[in-house]
Amino acid sequence: MKILAIESSCDETAAAVVEDGRKVLSNIVASQIDEHRLYGGVVPEIASRRHAENICGVVSEALSAADLDFSDIDALAVTYAPGLIGALLVGVSYAKGLSLSANLPLIPVHHIAGHIAANYITHRDLKPPFLCLVISGGHSHIVEVTDYTKFHVIGRTRDDAAGESFDKVARTLGFPYPGGKYIDEAAKSGSRTAFRFTHPKISGGEYDFSFSGLKTAVINLVHNAEQRGEPISKEDVAASFQKTVADILAEKLSAAAKDLGYRKIVVAGGVSANSGIRSKMKVAADALGAELYLPELTYCGDNAAMIGAQGYYDFLAGKRAGPELNAVATLSLDDI
Ligand code: KG4
Ligand code: ZN
Repeated sequence: MKILAIESSCDETAAAVVEDGRKVLSNIVASQIDEHRLYGGVVPEIASRRHAENICGVVSEALSAADLDFSDIDALAVTYAPGLIGALLVGVSYAKGLSLSANLPLIPVHHIAGHIAANYITHRDLKPPFLCLVISGGHSHIVEVTDYTKFHVIGRTRDDAAGESFDKVARTLGFPYPGGKYIDEAAKSGSRTAFRFTHPKISGGEYDFSFSGLKTAVINLVHNAEQRGEPISKEDVAASFQKTVADILAEKLSAAAKDLGYRKIVVAGGVSANSGIRSKMKVAADALGAELYLPELTYCGDNAAMIGAQGYYDFLAGKRAGPELNAVATLSLDDI
C-alpha cells in the first residue's frame, strides 16, 4: 500500500511516498530555516506563508521522485497535531482538498507518533511493545508504545524541551538557530568534565524531566565569564552541557525501562541526531541488557516519511478523517 504523506507542523514543508509503512519511495523536505534564522527562531506567520507557497511543489516532487502519479497512491496521511496552528492548517487543508478531488482516504497523524515511527523505516524488524524516548524541539517524553497506535506517556518535561535547551544554550554561545547541531559539533573538541552541572531534583513524576535550571546555569556561567572579561571555551561548555543532558536522559530512561521491564529501547525526534546522546544511550541500553533502536540521521528531524510510516499503521487501525478534520496545536499522545 502506497501512502502519500504531508507534514507542515513547524518550519519544514515535507511530502513523501511510503510503501507499507516501512519502505520510503521518496522523501522531500523544503526547509525554511534560513529565513527563520534571521529572527533567532521560527516566526509562525512566515512559516504558514512559506508552507502555502511550497506545498504544491513539494507534493509534485515527492510523486515524481517516486516515479508515480496520483492514480498510484492508495491513501493520504497528514500531520494534524501538535504544532503551529497556522502551519498545520496548510497541510491539513491541502490534504483534505486532495482527498476529496482524488477520492483517496485521508489518515490524520500525530506528529510525535510520526517521530516514533521514523524508527520503523530504519529498523524493518522493530515492533511494539517498546519504551521510547522522544526528544525534539518542542517535546521531551518517555512513552510506552504498547502497540503501533497505542501510547502511554509516563514522563514529560516540566519546562523546556531538550531541543529548546540546546537551542538556548547555543544562542548564548553565539551559534546560529537552531543550535543543537552546532553544540554537537563544538562538543567533539571540548572536555565533558570541564564544568559540572547538577541534575535537577523533581518531586513526584519520577520519569519527568526539567531542563530550564541546567540551561540557566550554563547561560549564567557564560555571562559571568564575559562580565569578568575571562575567556571561556565554547567547546568545553558545549561538551559539559551535552554530557549533562545525555546523562539526565539516560538516567530517567534506564529507570523507567528497569521498573517496567522493557528490553527494547527506542529514541526519536530531532535531538536523537545528537552524537553524544546516541552513544550514551548505547551505554545505557548495554547496561540494561536491552536492544537499542536509533533513527537514521535523515529521519531524526521533521520529515513526511515518518508520517507515512505511522499513517500506514493508523490506516490498519481504521483511523480516517473527512472534511471535518481540523488542525490541533496541542494534543497529548495519550489522547489520540
Ligand atoms: O524534531 P525536530 O526536528 O522538530 C520538532 O518537532 O521540534 O527537532 C528540532 C530540534 C531543534 O531543537 C534542534 O536544535 C535539535 O532538534 N537538533 C539537535 C541536533 N540536531 C537537531 N540537538 C542536538 N544535537 C543535534 N545534532
Ligand atoms: Zn518534530
